[in-house]
Amino acid sequence: MSLPEKFRALVATESGFGIEEFGFVDLDLGDVIVKVKYSALNFKDSLAANGNRGVATKLPLIPGIDAVGEVVESSDFRHSIGQQVLVGHADFGTAHHGAMAEFVRVPGDWVYALPQGSRGSSEITSKSLDLKTTVTWGTAGFTAAQSVEKIVEHGIKPDTGEVLVTGATGGVGIFAVKLLAKLGYKVVASTGKTERHGWLVENGASEILTRQDISDMSGKPLLKSRWAAAVDTVGGNTLATVLRSTQPYGCVTACGLVAGNELPITVYPFILRGITLCGISSALVDRDSRIGLWGKIAQQWNMDLSGIATEVTLDELPDAIAQITNGNIAGRTIVKM
Ligand SMILES: NC(=O)c1ccc[n+]([C@@H]2O[C@H](COP(=O)([O-])OP(=O)(O)OC[C@H]3O[C@@H](n4cnc5c(N)ncnc54)[C@H](OP(=O)(O)O)[C@@H]3O)[C@@H](O)[C@H]2O)c1
Repeated sequence: MSLPEKFRALVATESGFGIEEFGFVDLDLGDVIVKVKYSALNFKDSLAANGNRGVATKLPLIPGIDAVGEVVESSDFRHSIGQQVLVGHADFGTAHHGAMAEFVRVPGDWVYALPQGSRGSSEITSKSLDLKTTVTWGTAGFTAAQSVEKIVEHGIKPDTGEVLVTGATGGVGIFAVKLLAKLGYKVVASTGKTERHGWLVENGASEILTRQDISDMSGKPLLKSRWAAAVDTVGGNTLATVLRSTQPYGCVTACGLVAGNELPITVYPFILRGITLCGISSALVDRDSRIGLWGKIAQQWNMDLSGIATEVTLDELPDAIAQITNGNIAGRTIVKM
């Protein structure tokens, strides 16, 4: 395929972000060029688009941490022209131009074959995930899978008790709700969106709480213990409240900071109730572990994702970024290039 000199991309600069023509000459170096079919919008991408220097370590930057598409040029023997792939790495869309573009150029190590289903007899497990399903999971679904895996590994079983998911309508949140429900857990979802209660129930929540229910201001070091485990996606006083309300030897995973990056808490939940706080960092997962967890997603954790994603075009992406920045998006937003 002969490549055009320029292609369209969302570009973040010191003075804002917008859709621009971008030249291959300005892309970062890499062994593989992928024609992007879909990208997806994560909260982190909105921080990068808005020039947050904790995420966008250089500007101008093409944000975007999730891309799937087709290899169109490769000097890496593992990736051949025409192969359908997934691209992901800690630097992708943060320090290296990312996914919100018609083309990406990246090191071969950041490129993965689409997650493979097993060769079992069941229809759902015998195929690899397609491009759209893979990007719908994307970093949000992968992070939810990591969180659920930690809870399972901690020994929390469906009959141990209720599992709370905070920020439940968000990208990570909805995947955590669905996956926990699929595995048989009783899932309680907390959300700020009253209009999404029915949707959360359809996706597996058995009870819905408001954000205020999970943001205690009493200052008590411990609260009545309720949760066997929790997937927290929002941080701040919400995470502190969850930790203070978790049953002895329960497990709370923490991946996000939409409600704040501070953790106002004492040591009592840890030393009196033996609570475990598990940090989740999707960016730090090594290549083999990443392939392993994607395999699980494509096989035993495969789920029907209908109703989870909204599709937008590159031209509609700036509006979607404004929505996610304000916490107004439910589920996943995928970008069709
Ligand atoms: N550590 C990692 O590897 C990793 C990976 C992926 C994501 N993350 C982080 O995880 C978090 C969620 O990511 P995402 O992509 O799922 O984001 P998202 O789609 O924007 O979802 C975040 C959800 O949090 C809730 N929320 C928004 N503002 C809030 C506030 N002020 N207080 C309390 N809740 C609020 C909303 O859900 P409700 O309306 O339902 O409450 C919102 O939908 C982000 O902080 C992101 O940076 C981390």
